[in-house]
Amino acid sequence: MANTKGLLIVFEGTDGTGKSTQLKLLAQLLEEKGVDVISSFEPTNGAYGKKIRALYSNRENTSREDELELFLADRKEHVETLIAPALASGKVVLLDRYYLSTIAYQGAAGLDPALILQKNDFAPVPDLALLFHAPIQTGVTRITENRGDKLNDFEKEEYLRKVKVQFEEMDLPCIKRIDANRSIEEIHQDVLRLVKNLPGIG
Ligand code: ADP
Ligand code: TYD
Repeated sequence: MANTKGLLIVFEGTDGTGKSTQLKLLAQLLEEKGVDVISSFEPTNGAYGKKIRALYSNRENTSREDELELFLADRKEHVETLIAPALASGKVVLLDRYYLSTIAYQGAAGLDPALILQKNDFAPVPDLALLFHAPIQTGVTRITENRGDKLNDFEKEEYLRKVKVQFEEMDLPCIKRIDANRSIEEIHQDVLRLVKNLPGIG
């Protein structure tokens, strides 16, 4: 599905690479410039998103196929209720995770990345996918020490290393890679440079 009016910018990468931090900084700046921005995230807070969060502490009790179906159902609802209407009305939509995460995380769990992409054909293609890269250890330290969170079942280091490989192997036209192992300000400047290249924003 192609976007006709608005812009879809997604923030992707392994946990703790700074996606949420950078999304907020970009949203703030665009809002100050008077751009009509809407920020959201996946998994959502909807019914399927809640089922997904329930898996964080007991992921082993669900098959990988059922897990994928939950992420897809959550995204379908998200597209129908928020993403597609916002794009149709010309908004800039910023998403903290989208289908690149499904390719990487469910791909790392053993499902076929090409099939996962195909199953996402209902979802609008991002105009820009900012793919944040940093060593897994850096992300894990940021989550546990800076953010004070515990690691959930999707954030085990060994698994995240496989997820990182999936992100590295991904080759989609919308992807721009960002070295996230730098200061928040340096990364923000990179994000701005890439966003300014989009039509209708610079
Ligand atoms: P993600 O959304 O990718 O999981 P967050 O944006 O939540 O990551 O960042 C995780 C933690 O690391 C937060 O406490 C945040 O303040 C901190 N953080 C974010 N970016 C950086 C950075 N470039 N350098 C150091 N710490 C960072
Ligand atoms: P995260 O962005 O960390 O959300 P929260 O703030 O609720 O912890 O995402 C939760 C986890 O879900 C993260 O480790 C990645 C995983 N995930 C998938 O496995 N597949 C997907 O399609 C998405 C969107 C996320």
